[in-house]
Amino acid sequence: MNSVKNQKSSESLLIVKDLNVTFSTPDGDVTAVNKLNFDLRAGETLGIVGESGSGKSQTAFALMGLLARNGTIGGSAIFNGREILNLAEKELNRMRAEEISMIFQDPMTSLNPYMRIGDQLTEVLMLHKRMSKSEAYLESIRMLDAVKMPEARKRMSMYPHEFSGGMRQRVMIAMALLCQPKLLIADEPTTALDVTVQAQIMILLNELQQEFNTAIIMITHDLGVIAGVCDKVLVMYAGRTMEYGTAREVFYQPTHPYSIGLLNAVPRLDGDEESLTTIPGNPPNLLRLPKGCPFQPRCQFAVDHCAACEPQLEAFGNRRLRACFKAPGELV
Ligand SMILES: Nc1ncnc2c1ncn2[C@@H]1O[C@H](COP(=O)(O)OP(=O)(O)OP(=O)(O)O)[C@@H](O)[C@H]1O
Ligand SMILES: [Mg+2]
Repeated sequence: MNSVKNQKSSESLLIVKDLNVTFSTPDGDVTAVNKLNFDLRAGETLGIVGESGSGKSQTAFALMGLLARNGTIGGSAIFNGREILNLAEKELNRMRAEEISMIFQDPMTSLNPYMRIGDQLTEVLMLHKRMSKSEAYLESIRMLDAVKMPEARKRMSMYPHEFSGGMRQRVMIAMALLCQPKLLIADEPTTALDVTVQAQIMILLNELQQEFNTAIIMITHDLGVIAGVCDKVLVMYAGRTMEYGTAREVFYQPTHPYSIGLLNAVPRLDGDEESLTTIPGNPPNLLRLPKGCPFQPRCQFAVDHCAACEPQLEAFGNRRLRACFKAPGELV
């Protein structure tokens, strides 16, 4: 067991209950996130997995208070004992700077292209940690060192476009961890990178998590990326939970046809390429969801009943959840 696992407290840092995100559009209401439930303890990592459009980013944006204007939130999210949904702007800004940070898929979303990296980092510390300029400068270098940025001091005077994609993502991680947040939300932090750099970034996040005891929500469409780094996994489809459990359970004993499909699409080092299969078809349009289970038109195990009613999320085992009419043993 590593040191973080020992530091994990038994109390939840974040408890999300019945989280809903609905957008009103000219064509009707779109429920992008539908009654999501999960919880996270200090130092733990939750992976949120699903194909494009499954509601992963909107879940993160709802927690961060970053929803588009046509969106409304329902449910509750208790962070550190306090409700964080629908916070006032001032409180949100403080929370985003000091308690929960987010790494976006495209690093240029949050880096200012016209400012030197060093100035962007020191500014955050001066504003939110009330450090002097020289203190903030030294702390920024320390953080760039922590994300294994070679020649950190020299890089402080460089602009974002002077960094490679992987190095820019390291700057983003440094920026996100500067104020030592209790929770880091990483939204597909490695998709723009090649496989080797992806692996390096995942290892880095894991190491930093151990150092700072940060809880992480890792969002990805690729189950392979999070194998080995998550404690729990939430599998999403059409805004809903299909399956939720410990990473070990979901990886080794998936109980939902959608998780099984995602796992079969992950290349394995020991496997031959022929065993790789993608899930046929595409995720549904949320404005025209199929009847019954939203996954049923693509599900190889579907029976007539699946197109008639939607399966409800049911608890089983050790706090696992699944929404499927078929018994796990029937999914072979
Ligand atoms: N402002 C908006 N108005 C209407 N619908 C929206 C709005 N923002 C997002 N959506 C819809 O919400 C759904 C979920 O989007 P979300 O970005 O959370 O998906 P995702 O799982 O992060 O996908 P990806 O892997 O492509 O990033 C999508 O169908 C999207 O079209
Ligand atoms: Mg997304």
